[in-house]
Amino acid sequence: MAASEFAAWVRDFATERDRRAAGADPDWESGAVLSPAVRASIQRFQLGEDGDGANLIAKADAAGDPHYTAAVRLFEDEEHNHARLLARLLEAGGATTSAGHWSDTVFARMRRAVGLHAELLLLMVAEVVALRYYRALRDGTEDPLTSEVARRILADEERHIPFHCARLHASIAQLPRAARRPVLAGWRMLLLGAGLVVAADHGRALRELGVGRGRFLADVAGSAGPVVAAIVGTDPPRVPAELAEPAAAARPPHPHPHPRSGYRLRPRA
Ligand SMILES: [Fe+2]
Ligand SMILES: [Fe+2]
Repeated sequence: MAASEFAAWVRDFATERDRRAAGADPDWESGAVLSPAVRASIQRFQLGEDGDGANLIAKADAAGDPHYTAAVRLFEDEEHNHARLLARLLEAGGATTSAGHWSDTVFARMRRAVGLHAELLLLMVAEVVALRYYRALRDGTEDPLTSEVARRILADEERHIPFHCARLHASIAQLPRAARRPVLAGWRMLLLGAGLVVAADHGRALRELGVGRGRFLADVAGSAGPVVAAIVGTDPPRVPAELAEPAAAARPPHPHPHPRSGYRLRPRA
């Protein structure tokens, strides 16, 4: 992807930042009713959203495209806002944030240990799993505040997938052709592993939200194909249909839709 296209992503993220700043927060005063299982589940995802983005920003900076670095900074701001929203939701439900969990420590160490492209592949695993989780939370909870927080986060995560796909598309293209298939097969295995961990650890919460472990895992695994297709360039970067908001198809068409899918290829101009 050309640097100028990441300039468009900077505008996209900046537009979202300005929209956030101009809009009101959810009504925290209304309070939240969180079951013990959902509360514990949200505490875990809050930890995951609260990661330190300095490492990714440094790697993006070293890659030498100032537009991409600026976009990554704004992306990290969105992830920190997700952590803030989930912390406020927990507070509204009379709970606190969690101190830490082994899976977040392992994930953070893995991210730090690798280069930019491998970190983006790891990050994409987390994004794809999170997308299915927040959809379950938005649609499955009976608590209005929880559903509103999940809706806001989900809307951001749906933009993060094509953003990472755009960068990974350029990265994969630089790999020898023979190496691409094993790399992406490894990514699929990582996604499956992460889906298994989340399905196991959040099984009770997911069941309360109306999504069984098997269905959660099947949806996560099924989303690998469209993401891989977007990375290798046989399909445009887009949110996999099975993970997208059901209402997405009813939205007004983007000014620059892909001729086949109708999903936007680029951030808003
Ligand atoms: Fe997030
Ligand atoms: Fe994200």
